[in-house]
Amino acid sequence: MTGTDHARSFGAAAGAYARARPGYPDDAVDFLAAGARRVLDLGAGTGKFTEALLRRGREVVAVEPSTRMLAELRARLDVEAREGTAEATGLPDASVDAVVVAQAWHWVDPARAVPEVARVLRPGGTLGLVWNVRDESVPWVGRVWAIAQRGTEHEMRASAGNVGAPFGAGESFTTRFEHVTDRAGVLDLVASRSYVIVLPEAERADVLAEVGRVLDGEFGAGAEIRVPYLTHCTRFTLG
Ligand SMILES: C[S@@+](CC[C@H](N)C(=O)[O-])C[C@H]1O[C@@H](n2cnc3c(N)ncnc32)[C@H](O)[C@@H]1O
Repeated sequence: MTGTDHARSFGAAAGAYARARPGYPDDAVDFLAAGARRVLDLGAGTGKFTEALLRRGREVVAVEPSTRMLAELRARLDVEAREGTAEATGLPDASVDAVVVAQAWHWVDPARAVPEVARVLRPGGTLGLVWNVRDESVPWVGRVWAIAQRGTEHEMRASAGNVGAPFGAGESFTTRFEHVTDRAGVLDLVASRSYVIVLPEAERADVLAEVGRVLDGEFGAGAEIRVPYLTHCTRFTLG
């Protein structure tokens, strides 16, 4: 399986993704789209960050390569949404004040995406990269995600260093929130991970059964489950 196949794998789990993945906190939007009126949500998926931008009063254009993710986004949100990639957005020059890439920069080719983002930004515009990372210092969270390939977020976030010219140095901000869900929600969360999506059916069922056993040992039937997250944001300003 190539990196491109892996990046495209999300479409197969678009429903689980939309149901299960947490949104983004308001203070992350305020940092990443500070002073911006029109914002490009790039790699928008099912629209989790789009939703947060709309809630904070921004005008949004969403761009996403997966037709199935885009269909979920269009069904959920009344917003301008186009098929495209970080390397070829299809937007006019200097047409947005900020670009935000939520949980997706590790899928792009920075050598082609950085000039494309710089092209669509107005002078002084910003590129914002954000990742929600579960707080695995909480013991049950560490146990569940040890089963579903723990720790890959740290590698993902390393890609935030890959921006460079014509952008200046990154400015960082981290905030914390809890995603309130239940047993089925945590199972959907695991099922929507790219590593789990691409497993053969029997192996995927084993992973989900093992996660179910950890949850049953930790929480009573029907319990509310609060999944703790750290939201790591980095903002780069066009020089
Ligand atoms: C983990 S999802 C994040 C979706 C959404 N931004 C969110 O925060 O929920 C990663 C998204 O990146 C998209 N993607 C993969 N390769 C991409 C590329 N080259 N350019 C733009 N988006 C890409 C995938 O289709 C997927 O929707």
